Amino acid sequence: GKGIAVLTSGGDSQGMNSAVRAVVRMGLYVGARVYFIKEGYQGMVDGGENIVEASWSTVSGIIHKGGTVIGSARCKDFRDREGRMKAAKNLIKHGITNLVVIGGDGSLTGANLFRQDWTALLALLIKKGDITEEERQKYSSINIVGMVGSIDNDFCGTDMTIGTDSALHRIIEAVDAISSTAYSHQRCFILEVMGRHCGYLCLSAAIGCEADYMFIPEFPPAHNWEELLCQKLESERSMGQRLNIIIVAEGAIDIEGNPISAEGVKKVIVDQLGFDTRITVLGHVQRGGSPSAFDRLLGCRMGAESVLALMEATQETEPCVISLDGNQAVRVPLMGCVLKTQAVAQAMKDRNWDQAVQMRGRS
Ligand code: F6P
Repeated sequence: GKGIAVLTSGGDSQGMNSAVRAVVRMGLYVGARVYFIKEGYQGMVDGGENIVEASWSTVSGIIHKGGTVIGSARCKDFRDREGRMKAAKNLIKHGITNLVVIGGDGSLTGANLFRQDWTALLALLIKKGDITEEERQKYSSINIVGMVGSIDNDFCGTDMTIGTDSALHRIIEAVDAISSTAYSHQRCFILEVMGRHCGYLCLSAAIGCEADYMFIPEFPPAHNWEELLCQKLESERSMGQRLNIIIVAEGAIDIEGNPISAEGVKKVIVDQLGFDTRITVLGHVQRGGSPSAFDRLLGCRMGAESVLALMEATQETEPCVISLDGNQAVRVPLMGCVLKTQAVAQAMKDRNWDQAVQMRGRS
């Protein structure tokens, strides 16, 4: 059978284990040999005990766990040709010509480069005497499928990335918990949430928690935001509300592109309104803990589809990403998604926020 390897790369997210499990079980079901590559691309470069064959039972009892049981890393070595050569040699040693990469856009770009470089890497390995001519012919191509694991939901081409729903649950639980103590003390709370340059978590949490105000990168507030914020908070209090909740995305900016921080917002409120104000930075709590039902199912669906995509792939098949389209796991071209995601990042830098938001959609 075919040799399939699965790795997780970049920042972890809840639901990655579910995806890994589905790759292993679907792979075994269709008669493939499945391998774990531990510690992301670093494990592929280092080889040895980082590449181990998976069995049905090695993925038992992991679906409910947060993080990734096979480890993840941000790997520098894989960016160099030398590192990629070592990685290619390690794959060939195990007869692996199919790769499932679960990670963010950086990790998926790396996978695509690896595939483009494959023929040249084999030629170099021949030169060094690391592989035989027979091996070169046998392993002349590699097929790659990606899945997006990230709490940020910042990837173009999919409705949801694996982990976002769980992170959102965690944020909402935290805001609910804070709201009760805020109520007792008539306090104002500012929560900072993750998401890098994407405001999805902040916006969704703000709606789901009836926050009074929020700041996201895609919608920088007007020049007089301090005044508008204070008016809003005061009006809520005058109507009998005992607390205020403000959610700030970690990438929030003002109209000039300067960061808006929880500290900065607090200063405005304390100076202008004198409200008793506290800050809570949720941090990595958002990325930890048990995956939601949605993320478990998403991982299952995407993992199974990724194996089917590999089984059908030929030498000419371009790498794809398994994306969520409504409630279907579908295949979309990997490079198209990566390029679009990069174009969104550029539009954000150029302060074309409307354009960025338009482009972020699925298609
Ligand atoms: O991309 C996921 C994410 O959690 C972002 O929301 C956050 O900005 C970043 O990773 C934090 O990175 P690290 O775990 O390296 O501190």
